Amino acid sequence: MDEPTPSLEELEEQTFITKEYIEEKIIPGFTDAYRRGFDEDESTMIPSYVCRLPTGMETGTYLSLDLGGTNLRVAAVTLVGDGKTDIEQKQFVIPEELKTVPVETLFDWVADCAKDLLIKIKSLEKEMYMGVSFSFPIKQTDINKGVAMKMGKGFDIPGLVNNDVVELLNDAFVRKKINIHIVAIVNDTVGSLVAYAYRDQNTIASMIIGTGTNAACICETSEIKKQNFPPDSPQYMIVNNEISLMGADFLPKKTKYDKILDSQSSIPGFQPFEKMVSGRYIGELVRLAIVDYVKNYNLFDGKLPGKMEIPYSFSTVHMSEIESDRTYNSANILKSLTQNFKFSEDNTPTVGDMRTVQELVRKFSRRSAHLAVAAVASLIKLQCGTYKNIEREVRIAIDGSIYNSYYKYSSSMSKLLKEIQESGEDKKVKIVSVKNGGIIGAAVTAMMYSPHP
Ligand code: BGC
Repeated sequence: MDEPTPSLEELEEQTFITKEYIEEKIIPGFTDAYRRGFDEDESTMIPSYVCRLPTGMETGTYLSLDLGGTNLRVAAVTLVGDGKTDIEQKQFVIPEELKTVPVETLFDWVADCAKDLLIKIKSLEKEMYMGVSFSFPIKQTDINKGVAMKMGKGFDIPGLVNNDVVELLNDAFVRKKINIHIVAIVNDTVGSLVAYAYRDQNTIASMIIGTGTNAACICETSEIKKQNFPPDSPQYMIVNNEISLMGADFLPKKTKYDKILDSQSSIPGFQPFEKMVSGRYIGELVRLAIVDYVKNYNLFDGKLPGKMEIPYSFSTVHMSEIESDRTYNSANILKSLTQNFKFSEDNTPTVGDMRTVQELVRKFSRRSAHLAVAAVASLIKLQCGTYKNIEREVRIAIDGSIYNSYYKYSSSMSKLLKEIQESGEDKKVKIVSVKNGGIIGAAVTAMMYSPHP
């Protein structure tokens, strides 16, 4: 299976996505995938049962819980009106070993974390409403009912898939004697859309570009043909597009490293878009390339630095540090590499080595940003019929560690989007950053759907 090691020039060719490819293959590819999701595919274009958007004037305090791929956040979110919020939150890194335990063990830990927050805000005795943001797909049958579907991001939780997340969380709250009522559950993309809509009613879609990648948008309920909604159903509904799963038929060809990553992943073939775009995977792609270059191109004098052999040890934080280096002698790259990996004393990376690593990093981060822009354009097309010459104000709200923190990622997305739209002057369409989208969105949704709004 050993494919030849691509040179930097070859890798450049394999990872650079042209404007033409985006317009002729990827955007139409997404458009077809959206159609299939509306018509038949149960795993994409998933109804959220969120059928209203906030006005921004609502007030009140609601609890929210955001189970992400990396962190768990629990918060009390106060909506203060005028699109503003106050958040009191606690954040916990999800320990690696909890990603593969029975659901009761994971949710007992979640309930303990929620209890910590209630103690912090002195509300242990109070009866409170909670919205849950879940960073995995759920098949919903109502606003507070969601059955977990296949999970990515390294999670394998016996007893969770095919079961109702809200019921399981409620059971954990009962076990831990916590008085919380979950009134809504949303995918994190749906939460982010609602969160930004609380601030700006021109929000039509959202994306997450973090550990995972996905999008949500607002659509006419009658579009969702695969589900027979009663005729008196609300006219609009937010759907979870679950674009992480799309792309097997339209993404650019896989490089050697994409193939290795996929074959070594827990579910080969699953989430092809996510595996080229999201934070969980792009660092690993770079690591695989470095390992290959050490072996075959004498990078680091042919000696693999300690820890570099560990899968997923090269994170997007390292990538961002390396990509941002502008020093003449690559001092920041040196710092990042030697702080995170072990080089033997007689083997300090040369400037040439560091430039090679920076090149490898750039190729995979740029491909990720370009694919993300293609997704944004496809969402605009879905909502507005076209992605060029848009006449109305449109906001695409994006959350996630890569979008919000990776060096120049967001600005390169905006630049490419303008090029694709061929509209240097057009400021009507804006990609905007939403922070704490899951947390705020779950709380706003809880407000909209709680018995005493
Ligand atoms: C999940 C999505 C989620 C996304 C962003 C993906 O792995 O399948 O449901 O929205 O990550 O967190």
